[in-house]
Amino acid sequence: MRNLMVTGGAGFIGSNFVRYMLEKYPGYYIVVYDKLTYAGRLENLQDVAERFAGRYAFVRGDICDAAKVRETIRAYNVDTVINFAAESHVDRSIMNPDAFIKTDVYGTYVLLEAAREFGLERMHQVSTDETYGEVQTGRSKETDPVAPRSPYAASKASADLMVNAYHVTYGLPVTITRGTNNIGPYQYPEKVVPLFVTNAIDDLPLPLYGDGLQVRDYQYVLDHCEAIDIVLHKGEIGGIYNVGTGTEMRNIDMARLILRLLGKPESLIQLVRDRPGHDRRYALDVGKIRALGWEPAHTCEEAIEKTVRWYVENEWWWRPIKSGEHYREYYRRQYEGREIK
Ligand code: NAD
Ligand code: DAU
Repeated sequence: MRNLMVTGGAGFIGSNFVRYMLEKYPGYYIVVYDKLTYAGRLENLQDVAERFAGRYAFVRGDICDAAKVRETIRAYNVDTVINFAAESHVDRSIMNPDAFIKTDVYGTYVLLEAAREFGLERMHQVSTDETYGEVQTGRSKETDPVAPRSPYAASKASADLMVNAYHVTYGLPVTITRGTNNIGPYQYPEKVVPLFVTNAIDDLPLPLYGDGLQVRDYQYVLDHCEAIDIVLHKGEIGGIYNVGTGTEMRNIDMARLILRLLGKPESLIQLVRDRPGHDRRYALDVGKIRALGWEPAHTCEEAIEKTVRWYVENEWWWRPIKSGEHYREYYRRQYEGREIK
């Protein structure tokens, strides 16, 4: 494993992963392959291009474009694909699932076909706890069936099934990680934590869905990156690994913590109409990844604290996004008239 193609590497988790891997493995070369949708931004990799010149390249391309995927694998002598490329926001999948089917399902198939054709050493799929669907009690294990409930989750579960099918049918060396909610630097401010932090900084309301009692496991993005690294190097071929802190936090408590850290009043929390089909709780059993020697370095609270600090210190990154027409149009569509009076 030496020449990595990181698809979706200009997005939130992908860009953190690229930086992490280039720092850790001086012998690795990384080509980021990314379509640069609204969520993919070259600013996320600005320092990487400077710091790792000679070991890093960027190719703008769509994972659905089989010819360009093949051309890139050939040109960079790629031996490993790590697929972060996806449409990743649940609310957008509810508004319009089309791009989710194209990228998350068909795009993954294109990568699998290319991996098979070139005999790659590994195709790693970055997946999500949402594939299990909501869990009222207990914790999802890797052997549990998938039961996705949103178009986003269904697209990711479909991809996982196809990845597994390529392993079983063609012997393709694959691995899958299913992560919980990541937070940290460079997360597009449509996702709840960066949305709430940046709104709170500007004294704007925090739109909390429903009763705010939904449960998530907010993990620090670099912990997730480290877990992917461990699975790449020590994971069992064909294996699925859950990744998260193994603890849980209610959304209302996440919102209160953010406000406390910023010294803002709780009156900024505004209950709004719930997300349709909103999964009440996700909870993962993370025993399998822990058995490989991985442990998260941050609790949910520590992850939130670090994330708040990053957004306070990096207004240069998020202010242009939030003031842009694309974001403002999305925000209007998603939130206007949604307040519960
Ligand atoms: P993101 O939306 O920030 O980034 C996605 C990236 O993929 C962007 O750079 C975008 O330009 C690129 N992309 C989208 N469509 C593409 C296409 N057709 N071809 C090439 N590139 C394309 O997403 P993220 O939060 O960084 O998530 C990365 C991956 O991790 C996704 O697969 C997601 O399902 C998974 N995941 C995310 C979380 C989370 O909490 N954010 C948790 C678990 C798993
Ligand atoms: O669980 C892993 C998943 O986490 C990833 O696979 C997805 O890519 C990622 O987007 C995330 O999905 P969620 O739907 O959990 O994340 P989001 O940040 O959209 O919402 C987190 C919780 O906060 C969820 O219960 C919905 C709630 N929420 C969200 C938004 C955007 C609100 O209450 N208000 C909001 O405005």
